[in-house]
Amino acid sequence: MKQTIFLLSFLLVAVSTSALGQSGPSAENGKVVFDKWCTPCHGSAVTVGGLLGGGPLPGTAALGVKYKGELPPLLEERADLAPAFITTVVRGGLFGMPITRKTEISDAELEDIIAYLTRSQER
Ligand code: HEC
Repeated sequence: MKQTIFLLSFLLVAVSTSALGQSGPSAENGKVVFDKWCTPCHGSAVTVGGLLGGGPLPGTAALGVKYKGELPPLLEERADLAPAFITTVVRGGLFGMPITRKTEISDAELEDIIAYLTRSQER
């Protein structure tokens, strides 16, 4: 009997800590979602150059022109992106950037992307 109670309480602790670990946005999952949906335009041409012929990717190229080198053209190297700005651009699009629907990237996944892109900022 004692053993069963011990086992049960152990399980309870294990379950509650894993549930806690999953709450809130995850920058780690944000990287996975970013790689799938954003890197095809916002990656560095070098890493996916084999597939796309090594030219600059549209997002990276456009941001290079927009900021003329004052900010890094790679979104993943930016430290100034505000969460609300990322949401507005992803949901509403911006010039050459298409909108992304909630059926493609859920709100929770977008929160994960934001956690990833703002990971270097104090929040
Ligand atoms: C089809 C290509 C494409 C895809 C896919 C794409 N983007 Fe973009 N993105 C662009 C282009 C092009 C721009 C530059 C728009 C401009 O000229 O201001 C841009 C701009 C942005 C900006 C504005 C940066 C700034 O300082 O002006 C953010 C933020 C952004 N993208 C986030 C994302 C995220 C997050 C994803 C993935 C969910 C994504 N983008 C997917 C093409 C893309």
